[in-house]
Parts: sequence; C-alpha cells; structure tokens
Amino acid sequence: MIDFFINGHPVQAEDNQTVMQAAKANGYFIPYFCWHPHLSVPGNCRICTVEVEADGGGWLDIACNMPVTKGMRVLTDSDRVRQRRKETLQFITLNHPVDCGICDKAGECTLQDYHYQYNGSPSVSRDAKVHATKHFPLSERIVLDNERCILCTRCVRFTREISKTHALGVQNRGDHSLIRPVEDGAFEHDAYSDNVIDICPVGALLSRQFLHKARVWYLKPTASVCPGCSRGCSIDIWHRKSEWKLKALDARQNARIDRVTPRENPAVNGPWICNKARDLAKSFERARATQSMQKAQPVALHQAITSARALIAAARRPVALVSSWASNEELAAFQAALGVRFSCFVKPDAQAEPGEVIEDDLLIRADKNPNTAGAGALFPALPGDVASAFPPDTDLVLVWGEGFSFAQLPPNARIIYLNSWLQPENGHADVFLPISVMTERRGHFTNFEGVVGAFEPCFDKPAGVSDAEALFAALAPGGAS
Ligand code: SF4
Ligand code: SF4
Ligand code: FES
Repeated sequence: MIDFFINGHPVQAEDNQTVMQAAKANGYFIPYFCWHPHLSVPGNCRICTVEVEADGGGWLDIACNMPVTKGMRVLTDSDRVRQRRKETLQFITLNHPVDCGICDKAGECTLQDYHYQYNGSPSVSRDAKVHATKHFPLSERIVLDNERCILCTRCVRFTREISKTHALGVQNRGDHSLIRPVEDGAFEHDAYSDNVIDICPVGALLSRQFLHKARVWYLKPTASVCPGCSRGCSIDIWHRKSEWKLKALDARQNARIDRVTPRENPAVNGPWICNKARDLAKSFERARATQSMQKAQPVALHQAITSARALIAAARRPVALVSSWASNEELAAFQAALGVRFSCFVKPDAQAEPGEVIEDDLLIRADKNPNTAGAGALFPALPGDVASAFPPDTDLVLVWGEGFSFAQLPPNARIIYLNSWLQPENGHADVFLPISVMTERRGHFTNFEGVVGAFEPCFDKPAGVSDAEALFAALAPGGAS
C-alpha cells in the first residue's frame, strides 16, 4: 500500500493505482469523461485535472493517468483546479450545440452535470460554431450526433478492447474530427454495439429504439436478469414511473419496456450486455394469452383447473416437459406439487434465431434459455431422441412454456399446456392455462456457472393470467382446486 494525501487527509492506494482509481476507492470525487474503469486510458479530455502540491507551488495534472507516489499531496477541488475545469469545459463546449432540451441524454449527461458544477457561464468564444453531421446513421440501431460528440474516444476503444470488432475510428483532425464506422460494416454486426450508447458521456450516440420516446426522469429501472441466454446478464428494465403514467388511449404505453441497460455485476457480465437484451421488448410485447381454454373453447379458470386435476388424477403414465425459462421458485413449486406424479424432463424453450450470434468469448452462450441450470438441478434434460421420453403407454403430457412442437407428442396422449403467449398450440391442448411472464413476478434464475440472479416485477399481470407457482399448488393431488 502507498500512503499519500487527498485534500489534506491521509489515504492509501494499492500499488500501481492512479490518482483517479485511488481517489474513487477512498470516496473522493474527480470528474471524468474519457476515462472508463474498463477501458484503456487516453487522457484526452483533461476534465480530471487535479493539483499536486509541492515545494515551489506544485502543478496541475490529469488524475486518470497519474500514478500515486509515496507522500504525494493531491488537491481535487482547489481554486486552480476549479479554474482549469472551467476553462476545459469552455473548450469542450466550443462547438457544442447545447441542444440539451431535445437530447435523450439530458438527465444522465455528465457534460450537462459538470457544466453546472464547474462552469455555469455562457461561451466566451466570439467565433461561430463549427457545424458537423447532426444525424449520422452509425448503424441500424444507433444514430450519431457529431456536434454533441466531445471526442473522448470511449466508443472507439470499446470496439477495439471489448467487442474486438475495431468497428469505429476518428476521421480527420482538430475541429473537423468525426467518429465514423469502418467501411466493412463491422459496427452493424457488432453484437455488443449498444454498449457505446451507455458509455458515451454525452448525447452523441443515440438508440434508434429509444429516440425521443421518453425523458429519463419519467422512467425507473427495475432489477432483472436477461433471459436471452444461459449467461443471465444482470440488467435494468426501464419503464414508466407510476406518477408519470401517460393519459394515453393505449394503456400498453404505460406498461411497456422503454429500454434495457446493463446492471453492473462483476460475477456475471461486468458492465456490459449484448444487443439481444436491448431488444427484450420485442419478445415481451408479443400478443399474450389471457383466456383459459378446453380444446380451444374458453372456460373459466376454476373450470380449467378442475379439468386439469381430473386428467392428472386419471393418468396412468403422465410425462411433464419442464420450462427452462421457469424461475427457481416455480421449479421448486412444480417439484413439490407434481414432481412425483410425473416423469419430468427439462426442455429448451428457446433456440437461436436466424442470424443470431450462437456463442462467443465475451458473454453470449449457445443455450438461449436462462435457467437450464436451475431446472437441470431438479430434473433430467429432454433426450435428443425426444420420442424416448414418452413410454408407449404415455396418456398425459403437461407442457410448460413454449418451444416444443406438439407434433412430437404421443398421438393419443391428453395435453395440459401452460404458456404465456397467443400461439396455435394453445387451442390444441385439452386444457390450456395462461401464465405470467418474468416481468410480472419476482424470482431467480441460476446461470450456467451456478450464479443466481434475481428479477423483480415491473408490471401487473393481465386479467385472466395466473402465476405458474399458484397453478401448481392448485393442481397438486390433494391440493385445493
Ligand atoms: S461519440 Fe460519445 S463516446 Fe464516442 S467519442 Fe464522441 S463523446 Fe465519446
Ligand atoms: S449475453 Fe445472453 S444473457 Fe447476456 S445480454 Fe446477451 S443474451 Fe442476454
Ligand atoms: S478523464 Fe482524465 S483526461 Fe479524460
């Protein structure tokens, strides 16, 4: 450990730590734009300037690239430091359009925050601003506003150091510098490209999905787990705060996923997620099944449960296909209620979509289901030869979740089906029971490495929909119908 001083207080740094790292670790704030804890250090924005006290007056230097030395005395907020930060902000905003009123980053923009904290003055420049591209299509997913870009190069370094596509670079020099994608289309195919939207410290990189959809202060994040693959990345699902509900004719606008961002978790995904998590709304906003049915005929929920109980009671050889999207709590409830009555197998609910990255060295896993490990801890996997899961006298199959073709079921078996989405199979079941999705309940998934992640509810269940946990309790032999 190295002993040194911040603002006159004795503190300690790890060997090889920079002043920025040691200050953060000791609870001292130093502003930064270009520095990012998971990227290399370019030292180009200069906003992190601190003062180092020394005989003869000391000096100003950037904290993000300055190693701590024994006995060093650092000032993070002296008059000289504040003056330099003010000058730096004047320089950074020299050609900036200051169009915060229409910028999606407003409310989360460090340039805006630091301006109020350290500058607060109008531009002192008498020259006209240099204009740049205002709406550059960086990819199908991202729009770039070059006038807002402060050339911190975080996005460029992300594609070089994290996603490894080397898909972005800086073109031209001086105030004509522009972030541009390489010409081979690598950024379009970067499965992690949307992380640059999060790490851009200003509103230069904008999500097309989210563009002008909502001000961030109308939204709140709910902790969740991405169900897109067995990595189970920690995410925040952003949706409307109840006090900012829209008086819209379409009530779904108040119960939609507005955006998804990473929730930093060193044990699972660090600070990153892949683009599939950003597109969760597409999957969760599919048409929902809300009506219990018997052979495609709508029936009351209690009647469907009574019929399912009768099928279970009468079955001589029942088989259950367990969902790999079920939470650990639901799996435990199923095992307690029906695990002995049925021969159980875990099925994959989801497969890779055409064009999707199957697997890579960063996060993406080939198994596109979030809880194969949790389900596999209780039940065996469905064999590759699916028919071998069904003995010849199988007379009842309970199918839980989507992704299983009914054509593979024994032709004479009765079917109980639990699913969340409006799908043709629902009408083919002897009894169909609509169930909630993960954004409507709390639970846990176990990822492929055994790390357990928690998800919380964002929205209410639609009318007519039950939690699978409650249904299993009602279906248990001897349980209340
Ligand atoms: S677009 Fe954003 S992240 Fe990229 S260099 Fe400009 S300010 Fe930095
Ligand atoms: S790597 Fe898997 S769990 Fe993580 S964000 Fe992508 S699809 Fe979701
Ligand atoms: S944060 Fe240190 S120079 Fe940019």
